[in-house]
Amino acid sequence: MALGSSFGFSLSAPQSSFILSIMFICLFQVHFSHLSLSDSDGARFIKMFAEVFENRAFRPVKNFSQTLDINITIYLHAILGLDEKQEILTTYIWMEQSWFHEFLIWDPSDFSGKDLVALPTEMLWLPDTLIIEMVDEDKSPDTPYLYVHHTGQVIYGKPLRIVSSCNLNVLYFPFDIQKCPLTASPIVFHDQDVKLHLIQTSENITSESKKIFASKGEWELIQIEANEQNYMGDWAIYRSILLEVMIKRRPMFYIVNLLIPSAFLMVTDIMSFYLPTHSFDRASFKMTLMLGYSMFLIIVKDLLPSNSAHTPLIGIFFLVSLTFMVTSLFETILIINVIHQNAKQRKAVPAWMRTIILNYGAKLFWRREEQRVYHQISHSPRAANTTDQDSEMKSSGPVEINILQGLLRKIAEEVEEIKQCMERYDQEREVEKEWLQIGHILDCFLHSVYLIFFAAFLLTLSVAWLK
Ligand SMILES: *[C@@H]1O[C@H](CO)[C@@H](O)[C@H](O)[C@H]1NC(C)=O
Ligand SMILES: *[C@@H]1O[C@H](CO)[C@@H](O)[C@H](O)[C@H]1NC(C)=O
Repeated sequence: MALGSSFGFSLSAPQSSFILSIMFICLFQVHFSHLSLSDSDGARFIKMFAEVFENRAFRPVKNFSQTLDINITIYLHAILGLDEKQEILTTYIWMEQSWFHEFLIWDPSDFSGKDLVALPTEMLWLPDTLIIEMVDEDKSPDTPYLYVHHTGQVIYGKPLRIVSSCNLNVLYFPFDIQKCPLTASPIVFHDQDVKLHLIQTSENITSESKKIFASKGEWELIQIEANEQNYMGDWAIYRSILLEVMIKRRPMFYIVNLLIPSAFLMVTDIMSFYLPTHSFDRASFKMTLMLGYSMFLIIVKDLLPSNSAHTPLIGIFFLVSLTFMVTSLFETILIINVIHQNAKQRKAVPAWMRTIILNYGAKLFWRREEQRVYHQISHSPRAANTTDQDSEMKSSGPVEINILQGLLRKIAEEVEEIKQCMERYDQEREVEKEWLQIGHILDCFLHSVYLIFFAAFLLTLSVAWLK
């Protein structure tokens, strides 16, 4: 009604609604035709560069003899693992390549001022840059798009999950630093066709990588050294980028699980020297300790980098520790033999052993010599007594007393015999005590030698480790 009256004629209600709907349809059609797909920026872009997209098989240069320069940027995102047995390093890196496409140039004002356009990767020629050390199939995620700048610059970024071989040196495990190379190089295009250029400095790559380095796991990134280099192929030279990734192991896990338990067992072994040999079964104690250590070695075997080319120092440490334990067991057997066997057979202590061990050894280890003094004291009064008795007996002359004298002599002989018996017993006890003392001094001496050797071993090892 209102619409009709404004134009000076009147329309019924159904007529006006019909005209309104016609007008709406016309309006939409005008709008749709303006938005038609064939007229969009994208369609015009594709139409404009159709030839470029068709010829994506060839490098984007005007002249075949021209070299394509590719700028490359690499960052290390994470170290996913290092397999010492197979010498394999798994890393995750970000690689961005950019080059100039000589035919993909436009004026941004033609395309609503757009100067950066994302295109599917399969529409353009792509370099075949790969990491040469790769030993496993590429499980990197696909990147479906790349960016093209209106100046023709193509920016192609790609994450790479790299399983690469790396020559490891596990000698200083778990305090080792590994250096693994990653060489980014074209597989087919040699240096007359494609040249890779590194546009960052090593410091730049290192600091950026450290900033984004995600994992706080076993490995700590120390440095990445990057260089351009020429890689000699069979019949051409390839221009490639060599990255040397330096990583350091965080040793805490291994210190807690390998070194400290082993050190505890070793200290127990050293302390067990203070157990008395004659009244305690030290040998079986040491045997148990050795058994415990062997069990420990079996359990931790899987934690060690078992690589036949280099035996890690820690393996030598375990082996030498076991050797020390075996040696200390042998020492205990020797001491037990000296003390018990010789004492039971009641062999006299040889003179040389007496002078060397009981004189010098005792002085060296501050051992007192009470037994020998006791022996000398017990010896002298006995000799004096018998001679006195004999002379007294002979001096009393009368015959009546002869019987009594004979009786007394007999008694004296018996007593003498008992004395001799006691003396023999004393001597045996004394021999036993002497052997015991020899055993103690020998034990002290061997323990000191053991300690000296062990200290020297620890010193050598720590110097080697911390060097
Ligand atoms: C291609 O480039 C090379 C050097 O870059 C030049 O010598 C040669 O004449 C060029 N060829 C054509 C057809 O433009
Ligand atoms: C490559 O790097 C050089 C030097 O930084 C720069 O001049 C050039 O424009 C870069 N090329 C591309 C395609 O990014």
